[in-house]
Amino acid sequence: MLFIMTLHSAEFLTSVGFIKQLPTDGRSEIAFSGRSNVGKSSLLNRLLNRKKLVKTSRTPGKTRTLNFFTVNNAFYCVDFPGYGYAKRSKSERDQWGQLIEEYVLDRPPLKGFVQLIDVRHVPTEDDLRMVEWLTESEKRFVVVGTKADKLSKTKLQASLARIKRVLAWQGEFPVLPFSAVTGLGKDELWRWIEETLRG
Ligand code: GTP
Ligand code: MG
Repeated sequence: MLFIMTLHSAEFLTSVGFIKQLPTDGRSEIAFSGRSNVGKSSLLNRLLNRKKLVKTSRTPGKTRTLNFFTVNNAFYCVDFPGYGYAKRSKSERDQWGQLIEEYVLDRPPLKGFVQLIDVRHVPTEDDLRMVEWLTESEKRFVVVGTKADKLSKTKLQASLARIKRVLAWQGEFPVLPFSAVTGLGKDELWRWIEETLRG
């Protein structure tokens, strides 16, 4: 039997640009990754019931560091910098790649990933590469189709099925619809997070 966790508190802890700045207290972490502008920061605000806890923007490339939010004084939600943002310099992209690769593949407190894909789009090369890393890390992960409010119900089902199909070579995993505007998918995502934290 699963219960949806009660949210008591959520606050910003720190921004991490280099591996050595990562928290060392061993609290469990759930990471939120996806391409730039997919809606990672908006999803976190909706999930944590706070309109402006996490900075969002119409301009892609807003989040540039791993941003840690403490939830219920118990675990961390980690907002990823978006990938696939062409305007970044090569050295910035290299730094991103190094940080993410080390974090994804070698971070014991990290319990699972929420991988976001805009439900209207076919997963990109970058999405596929990210999913490959996530599979390699052998941690739990769930795919979330964001901005679900932008599609009709019929189109939404078709798009979720298409995402599943494109990612099928990496195995079977759930693809949940989500909308930061309407709150669709929030309870299901909380349930997944709770299961993941319990291990
Ligand atoms: P980076 O930090 O640049 O990687 O972007 P991000 O993935 O954090 O995206 P962010 O949450 O900043 O959202 C990008 C844009 O999409 C903003 O204009 C949001 O208002 C919009 N957006 C995010 N989620 C939704 C959603 O569920 N529905 C709709 N309609 N718009 C959304
Ligand atoms: Mg962001």
